[in-house]
Amino acid sequence: MSLAVLSVASEAYPLVKTGGLGDVVGALPLALAPEGIDVRTLIPAYPAVLRAAADALAAEYPLPDNVAAQAGGPGRILGFNAHGLAWLALDIPHLFDRAGAPYLGPDGRDWPDNALRFAALSRAAAEIGRHGIGDWKPDVVHAHDWQAGLTAAYLHYAEGPRPGTIFTVHNLAFAGKVPLTQLASLHLLPQAAGVDGMEFYGTLSLLKSGLQFADHVTTVSPTYAAEICTPEGGMGFDGLLRARGLALSGVLNGIDTLSWNPRADAALAAPFGASTLDAREANRAALRDRFGLDANPEALLFGVVSRLTWQKGLDLLLEILPELLRLGAQLAVLGNGDSALEDGFRSAARAHPGRIGVVIGYDEKLAHLLQGGVDALLVPSRFEPCGLTQLCALRYGAVPVVARVGGLADTVIDANPAAIASCAATGVQFAPITTQALGQALRRTDQLFRNKSVWSQIQVSGMSTDVSWRGPARQYAALYRSLVPTA
Ligand code: ADP
Ligand code: GLC
Repeated sequence: MSLAVLSVASEAYPLVKTGGLGDVVGALPLALAPEGIDVRTLIPAYPAVLRAAADALAAEYPLPDNVAAQAGGPGRILGFNAHGLAWLALDIPHLFDRAGAPYLGPDGRDWPDNALRFAALSRAAAEIGRHGIGDWKPDVVHAHDWQAGLTAAYLHYAEGPRPGTIFTVHNLAFAGKVPLTQLASLHLLPQAAGVDGMEFYGTLSLLKSGLQFADHVTTVSPTYAAEICTPEGGMGFDGLLRARGLALSGVLNGIDTLSWNPRADAALAAPFGASTLDAREANRAALRDRFGLDANPEALLFGVVSRLTWQKGLDLLLEILPELLRLGAQLAVLGNGDSALEDGFRSAARAHPGRIGVVIGYDEKLAHLLQGGVDALLVPSRFEPCGLTQLCALRYGAVPVVARVGGLADTVIDANPAAIASCAATGVQFAPITTQALGQALRRTDQLFRNKSVWSQIQVSGMSTDVSWRGPARQYAALYRSLVPTA
């Protein structure tokens, strides 16, 4: 039986992406199609989305009255097909037709009206959920992260029949907090401000709306699902999450194995597969060139592709750089984010030319070359709900060296002696998350790298790991089917 699902989020690859959320929202519908799940993806009509809509416009729908009233201005919903997805773009120009990054104003800070912008998105999702759009009506609404969290509250408080709801939390660190006094502007009833509603330490949390009111809550790995139920990992939500019991589960992310395919990737200097690993050498050379690293094929080449934030633990890497250099290794860093970390890596590169190379910025193509060229990809995150870069690394024969947390713990098999002996190892894990443990992981990686047969066995095992969306899509499809309301 075919099932209709409305997916709602603030970003979706390839139209708009700031991180893994965009990747997931853009890739999951493609994998759900063979499962008989017909997904439409509702996102705000930012300028890039408007451009895509103009090229392929299939339908134009009026804004439901209560969405227009709440948004405080006119708008419409645009239906179009692009990149294999069926899109619904919420076109409310005064909220979304703004240049630049989706969440940030020209001063680099969050737009002050972000809560209202994404409340309008959530209200639109709830209305499409209740009444459908055109001749299409979803059985289930799937909302992602705090920006879409209010969808669950609006549907919870609505009268009459409603679709099933599922909320996926990609990162508990973004609580979407607003002052309690904003309740009325979000068009919510007073009871929503209670502790059994969205109240969160004297504020309203749009994330909590999703966690509290969705029929089912998922997060993006089983280990993160367990971690967020503890006071250490729960960021204040652990009590609520424990109370949700079986209504909370972890489903691992996949990656889009068509755009991440080392055998046919235009961003690589040379394509390669598990049986042609030697061809990686050309990518290593191109990467060294691009990052200004010495032409030293013997040197172990570490890489990073990441947002530069506290979550990602890259300050630990900055601290342990002397150890990396002592090993004779090289480092290529691609990332942007906190200025202290950007400055830290820039000055490390200045201090060690030829050994450390840094590109500050966001460059999708370079991320592909980096994955195809580094020997090992470092992901020393303090917490990581799932993580996608280690999945790309596995597929590209770059050995992931990861903190044993969240989805990193679930997707990388540590090269301990037993795993090596049984040819199961796919990377290196370390714990606790300290500079010492990271230093030890660097040394262990170096030893493994010096043993060429073990190293290539780890690469090949990584490359044969299934990192596709097939398995996760099956799990989501089963969840959706369990949430369809029975008449
Ligand atoms: P998060 O969503 O927490 O940033 P993920 O690992 O889930 O982390 O997803 C990050 C995504 O963004 C991956 O697709 C990764 O390749 C990409 N990415 C991160 N930083 C950069 C960058 N500087 N340039 C290009 N791609 C990047
Ligand atoms: C978040 C998390 C990351 C996860 C991504 C997609 O950005 O930080 O771990 O992979 O969402 O689910």
